[in-house]
Amino acid sequence: MPVRPVVTVTYAQSLDGCLAAGPGRPLALSGPESARYTHQLRASHAGLLVGIGTVLADNPQLTVRHVAGPNPQPVILDSQLRCPPAAALLRHPTHRPWIAAHAEAPGDRAQVLAAAGAVILPLPSDEHGRLSLPALLDELGRRGLASLMVEGGAQVITAFLTQGLADRLIVTVAPRVVGGLPAVAAPVDLALFNVRWRPAGPDMILEADLRP
Ligand SMILES: NC(=O)c1ccc[n+]([C@@H]2O[C@H](COP(=O)([O-])OP(=O)(O)OC[C@H]3O[C@@H](n4cnc5c(N)ncnc54)[C@H](OP(=O)(O)O)[C@@H]3O)[C@@H](O)[C@H]2O)c1
Repeated sequence: MPVRPVVTVTYAQSLDGCLAAGPGRPLALSGPESARYTHQLRASHAGLLVGIGTVLADNPQLTVRHVAGPNPQPVILDSQLRCPPAAALLRHPTHRPWIAAHAEAPGDRAQVLAAAGAVILPLPSDEHGRLSLPALLDELGRRGLASLMVEGGAQVITAFLTQGLADRLIVTVAPRVVGGLPAVAAPVDLALFNVRWRPAGPDMILEADLRP
């Protein structure tokens, strides 16, 4: 049995709990201090995961830029291999991004993305037809990843939290009200342990454990 990575779910939300202005409508929420802390967190994790919704909405680079430190291994959840071959993360300076996909995802897409620099990780489905996150964590453990930072977006955060697969939660709360895309989009009631709050410029950062 591989040892699964320790999972930290981390994101920036508005005061009313939103990640973005709406689906596919990104919003810069973090101030400079909390954005720098997010990059410190990236540098202290072995892997950095986002869903394909975030790739399509934000075209993120998934690198460490605001502080000095190593880049984590980028991991994308993309069951149908919708990632555009021109995506910024495929020009990653230090790692070949790992794209987790259904084993039956179109083979021609796999070839195109592999040629563009990705490594495709075929995964089984869960009972809802989504990529199985426990299988993903086992695979990342087999590949030697000791820690994983899950940055978003809403569906991915919701999936990790509702399935009880996160060990730590770090949330930046920005002083804005946006009435947009909720960070957690399904019923869940998680107890937080060792809760710490601190200011970071105009924002507040909460850090907590999700296991006693
Ligand atoms: N404020 C922040 O900190 C922050 C951070 C990141 C993103 N965002 C925002 O979040 C928004 C994107 O969020 P989103 O919810 O649309 O997309 P997302 O969570 O990034 O990606 C969701 C997609 O991932 C794929 N997926 C595969 N397996 C999954 C699984 N087991 N569980 C969940 N998803 C799985 C699915 O697509 P397939 O079925 O095609 O595989 C699903 O539609 C953007 O607007 C972005 O700006 C904000």
